[in-house]
Amino acid sequence: MKILVTGGAGFIGSAVIRYLISETNHSVVNVDKLTYAGNLASLGEAAQSERYAFEHLDIVDAPGLDGVFRNHQPDAVMHLAAESHVDRSIHGPAEFIQTNLVGTGVLLEATRRYFEGLSAERQNKFRFHHVSTDEVYGDLDGPDGLFTEETPYAPSSPYSASKAGSDHLVRAWHRTFGLPVLITNCSNNYGPCHFPEKLIPLIILNARAGQALPVYGDGGQVRDWLYVEDHARALVRVLESGQPGETYNIGGHNEHRNLEVVERICELLEELAPEHPAGVARYSDLITYVKDRPGHDRRYAIDAGKIARELDWRPQESFESGLRKTVAWYLDNPDWVKGVTSGAYREWTAHQYGKH
Ligand code: NAD
Ligand code: DAU
Repeated sequence: MKILVTGGAGFIGSAVIRYLISETNHSVVNVDKLTYAGNLASLGEAAQSERYAFEHLDIVDAPGLDGVFRNHQPDAVMHLAAESHVDRSIHGPAEFIQTNLVGTGVLLEATRRYFEGLSAERQNKFRFHHVSTDEVYGDLDGPDGLFTEETPYAPSSPYSASKAGSDHLVRAWHRTFGLPVLITNCSNNYGPCHFPEKLIPLIILNARAGQALPVYGDGGQVRDWLYVEDHARALVRVLESGQPGETYNIGGHNEHRNLEVVERICELLEELAPEHPAGVARYSDLITYVKDRPGHDRRYAIDAGKIARELDWRPQESFESGLRKTVAWYLDNPDWVKGVTSGAYREWTAHQYGKH
């Protein structure tokens, strides 16, 4: 297949493209606006492949998308482009509505125009895969219960509401226009090339810099962590073998409280980077409780039974091994870190954490 991947310079999109180029024979057209979160360096050697092409484009640009479809004639779309950080959506929701909701609508319409011009044989094989999040389900009260594909939508933040809206658009384009869509809703990813505004890379880099490790509220919120390469494998499995019109939840069966995650990173740093920054006796001394996120979801946990039963996908990485690899990756890749922690990044951290 030739696959049009949106958001391929981001954290998960770049892992998907690295996997597609190294482990399959598919070709990739990466459509990315290169926002603060997009970084072509995350593609590594995949970007040198003859099966890779890049189009610098905003997904709200309908004529631009028409040109990309016309020139590349893809067999499938994997849609990952989004504004993805909950805290940013609280400080400024407009960009989230624009990219996640309007952008998905524009992309669906461009895809439909292209799809309707394909032969019946190519239409039969064509897929539009929308990559979404477990946050559309809201949060779980207490330690029991899991999100299934039937859990009603109840998003809490501007980010998750915009993703929920985009899921609804995708289902409508299936039901009304017959577009062969697939939807996946995944739990929290972690791993290499994760932008350091998110919890795990933020904690690793702050600890190494001798800065406060901010824990929101009481640190008792629970997330279900999945190593990003397991997610990339799941996405390709769904694209290749999923049933059009179906939704698949993806998760790692790795529930941890935020405070546990922060403490575990500190322990790994004691082992992997024992030379502390000046004035720091132990990394865990830097843990600092800060004001909670407004509307903070308490617990997410995914029932990934459907994708295991129907598509034979299971995560391969344990949280222990995945977190160790992740900490080691950030220690070994100071150039990547330097490339993303630009002026714009420093402005964000000053804005978000300065007052604490
Ligand atoms: P990210 O923020 O790291 O990357 C987003 C990418 O999209 C960037 O390369 C950015 O430049 C690009 N982009 C943003 N706006 C664009 C636009 N208007 N036009 C074209 N490109 C644009 O995000 P991520 O963490 O890799 O998430 C990818 C997708 O997976 C998102 O849809 C997100 O909702 C979903 N998801 C993320 C997680 C997670 O834990 N990170 C979990 C489940 C689902
Ligand atoms: O569940 C999937 C979602 O996971 C994705 O859809 C989102 O795109 C992705 O960003 C992620 O959302 P979270 O809000 O769960 O991730 P984040 O890394 O921002 O926060 C993880 C938890 O850690 C959350 O409970 C908030 C908390 N936190 C986060 C930061 C940045 C802190 O305690 N301190 C922090 O400084």
